[in-house]
Formats: sequence, C-alpha cells, structure tokens
Amino acid sequence: MKPILLNLPMPIRTPRLLIRPFSVGDEAIVNAAILESFNELHQYMDWAKEKPSIDESEEYARLAAANWILMKCEEPWLQLCIIDRKTNQFIGATSFHHIDWQVPSVETGYWIRVSRANEGLMTEAINAITQYSFKQLKVKRIAITCDRDNIRSKMIPERLGYTLEATLKSNRRKPVTGDISDTLIYSCHDCNTLPELNVTWGDNNE
Ligand SMILES: CC(C)(COP(=O)(O)OP(=O)(O)OC[C@H]1O[C@@H](n2cnc3c(N)ncnc32)[C@H](O)[C@@H]1OP(=O)(O)O)[C@@H](O)C(=O)NCCC(=O)NCCS
Repeated sequence: MKPILLNLPMPIRTPRLLIRPFSVGDEAIVNAAILESFNELHQYMDWAKEKPSIDESEEYARLAAANWILMKCEEPWLQLCIIDRKTNQFIGATSFHHIDWQVPSVETGYWIRVSRANEGLMTEAINAITQYSFKQLKVKRIAITCDRDNIRSKMIPERLGYTLEATLKSNRRKPVTGDISDTLIYSCHDCNTLPELNVTWGDNNE
C-alpha cells in the first residue's frame, strides 16, 4: 500500500501518557517546553540552535501536521506530542523518521521538557513507540542514534533492551562546541524483548 493511504490508529496510550501526531495549534505548548529546556536541547539537538519564536514554532507544528496528512517522511518528520494523561501537560516529543517502507524499518528520536525529566516518562514513551512500530507499522527494525556522550539519551535504548549495533567513529560534530564525536546506533528487532508495559492505540480503548 502507498504510505499516503495508510490509516494509522492514534492516539497511543500508556499508563501515564497519551501520544498523538502534531496538529495545527500545537505551537504554544511546544514553544513553552522548548524555551524551558533550551539549554539541554541546545547541547545535542541540531534543530535547537536558537530559541524559537512563536511563529517558528507554528511553522514547525504546521509542517509536522502536514507530514502526517501526507505520510511524508521528511523534515520535520512524523512528530508526535507526548502528553501527561493526568494533567494534559505537553511533556515532550518523539518521532518516526527515516522510514524505509521497503524493509520496513524506522528510526525514532525524542526530547523531554526539563521539568518532567527523571520520572521514566520518555522510557515509557519509547517502549510504546517501539511496540507500535512492530505491531502497527510492521517494521523489522527500529533504530535510535545518539552522541556517545549523551548519557541520558543512550540510557533509554539500554533500559529497553535495545542492542548497541555500531559505533560510528568521528562521524558527527557536537552542536555547541563543533568538536568531533562518535554516533552510537542502537536497534531493536523484536518487541517481545521490551520491558512489560500496557500500550493501546486507536479511538476505542479509553
Ligand atoms: C534524552 C532524555 C529524553 C532522557 O530523559 P530522562 O528523563 O533521563 O528519561 P526518562 O524520562 O525515561 O527518565 C529516566 C529516569 O527516571 C527514573 N525514574 C523515576 N521514576 C521512574 C519510573 N516510574 N519508571 C521508570 N523510571 C523512573 C529512572 O530511574 C531514570 O533515572 P536514572 O537514569 O537516574 O536512573 C532527556 O535527557 C532529553 O530530552 N535530553 C535532551 C534532548 C536529547 O538529547 N534527546 C536525544 C537525542 S538522541
């Protein structure tokens, strides 16, 4: 089937989170979370070079929403908002990117607002994204890449039992200092190896 005709059930639910595609109107919640977390994001995320204006966040939210309508896997990718089910607070974002529909395979990325770090929420979200990728997108492989020094990021695939598949030596520069660094590639090939987590998706499972 052509990707544009795929009808992907959303949102994804975990015990604490609701994960849904970006939509027009998300700019205020995303902008506030990025501004709050800018110092952390700036260190590792190439897109966090400058603090975004609200107009820039609106452009981002609209492009991300358009990608979902067209199932276009290009920047800013198929972005998902992660929402606290209890408080409705936007806590961060994850994405499907670099999808190869021939395999199929996918990569994911993530960031969390600083005030909601260290609660295990991103590990929970990426467990759900991994399950969704295998069961709904029918992927054979999901990968996470990160800078070798991004300890908090690499702990997520490690906690979830991903395999460290490769270290690409000297293939990236750190966003702030421009120093040369290595990229770690983690992958998962079977979602049955994940820590147990109740994950559902679609409209009918409240
Ligand atoms: C990468 C990033 C998302 C990790 O955030 P995080 O808060 O460390 O990850 P989680 O939300 O999964 O929280 C994990 C922590 O919560 C703790 N925790 C607390 N309650 C928990 C619970 N109920 N369940 C599981 N873990 C829990 C865990 O022990 C862990 O802390 P530890 O590593 O000190 O043991 C965050 O550092 C970030 O956004 N960085 C900037 C952007 C970035 O680098 N993105 C990745 C690019 S590759």
